[in-house]
Amino acid sequence: MKRTEAGSAGAAIAVALALAALPAPAVAQVTFAAAEQVTFAKDVAPILYQNCVECHRPGSFAPMSLLTYEEARRYARQIRYRVSERQMPPWHVDKTLGIQDFANDVSLSDEEIATIVAWVDNGTARGNDADMPPVPEFGDGRAWQAELLVGRPPDLIVKSSPYTVPARGQDQWWNPTVKWEALGEDRYLLAYEFKPAYPHGLEVVHHGHASLVFPSDQGVRGGVGIAHYGVGKGYEVFADGVGMRIPAGEGIVDWNIHYSSLHVDTDTPDDVVEIGLWFYPRGETPELATEGEVLFRVDRENGYDRPMNRANDILIPPNGYQVLQGVHVLEEPALIGSFRPHLHTRGKEMSMEAIYPDGRREVIGKVSDYKHIWQVGYEYAEDSKPLLPKGTVLLFTSVFDNTADNPLNPDPNQWVVFGRRGPDEMSHMWVNITYLSEGQYEEIRARREARPIAQAN
Ligand code: HEC
Repeated sequence: MKRTEAGSAGAAIAVALALAALPAPAVAQVTFAAAEQVTFAKDVAPILYQNCVECHRPGSFAPMSLLTYEEARRYARQIRYRVSERQMPPWHVDKTLGIQDFANDVSLSDEEIATIVAWVDNGTARGNDADMPPVPEFGDGRAWQAELLVGRPPDLIVKSSPYTVPARGQDQWWNPTVKWEALGEDRYLLAYEFKPAYPHGLEVVHHGHASLVFPSDQGVRGGVGIAHYGVGKGYEVFADGVGMRIPAGEGIVDWNIHYSSLHVDTDTPDDVVEIGLWFYPRGETPELATEGEVLFRVDRENGYDRPMNRANDILIPPNGYQVLQGVHVLEEPALIGSFRPHLHTRGKEMSMEAIYPDGRREVIGKVSDYKHIWQVGYEYAEDSKPLLPKGTVLLFTSVFDNTADNPLNPDPNQWVVFGRRGPDEMSHMWVNITYLSEGQYEEIRARREARPIAQAN
């Protein structure tokens, strides 16, 4: 088993610290001892099939297929590098700090990494065909991913109006509005999926959002964010008993799609993004009403920066660095479901800390090797979701590296300011947040305290 179950966020950290105090696993030794026998068929193919080929196969969006021995061998050096640097599979959470217990953790274990490294360093042996695992089967790339988790097709599909993405295009934004038919009664959203057209839309949609805007009197502040997408995050299924309220009336779906096609040689005509929505049954009100992913901005002093209380300006000097911090005070207790940093090419790190009313301070999420191409949402395991009392301060810190040491830096000699284009910067944290009543907070806290603390073994 990869992860240790723990009773609470605090316990998860305590367990992580306890493990860190043990002697480090002897990776080099494993490598050496296993070197003779490591083969593609027996040892490496199972790791690739389990962790890589969902993306690295013909017809998906990764640059090459890793389904066969020949393909994997051709990329052996790159695989060794990306895997040992923990850049692949894409999972950029700092392994040394903060909660480590995530529901969607795709990272490899130290042992899996050592196996791949040993295979490459010892001549990429093929092994016996008899040991080869069966090639995994893939569903249709057009299928709804969340359908597997929810168990049925979406209840409602909303489409953007079409947009033609030109070949070799710079950043483009497509902001159509589409009518939202009245649902007739308040409904609660259980899951959503934002689906670029298959396969070409996947290559050109960088990220996107859709929100519902209601004329008035629907009891919602601003819009309701019904879908958020970035490469690495396509859908969200809320926890059991958690839903997002969609008011009864008619409104408008306000789209915000960011296209980028610099790397694509042909036009993508009439691209349409679809959003699949799954609801709780009519009349059913889930126990907790979530806000879904909420944007916390740390990038502009006087921008549309709610719900940040204070935000700084981005101004990164040439060949230099900048650190930005912003705080947000929770005026109600809250349960945090996930976090998803959004910086651009100079972004290096982003963290979220909780400063509790009693003064305790805890890093609850940190990405230390940020890569602009990946917009992964890091989803806490149910029992490790940070449970924060009213008055907790969320502290967000972003670090930008505008030096030539940053391999993604398009130009270290520029001043960099806030902007929507890739070469400008942003500093956003998307946080899935569910506000709780005092009663709900106490109930979850009592439930967690009653659980036995997991044994680290
Ligand atoms: C979620 C999809 C996804 C998964 C899972 C994934 N990759 Fe990737 N991989 C990509 C994409 C997209 C790129 C290109 C963008 C980038 O470099 O980040 C990439 C790039 C790479 C590269 C660099 C290719 C080059 O041209 O240099 C290597 C090597 C690689 N992946 C290996 C792996 C291995 C090995 C695994 C499994 C242990 C894996 N990847 C899992 C999507 C994925």
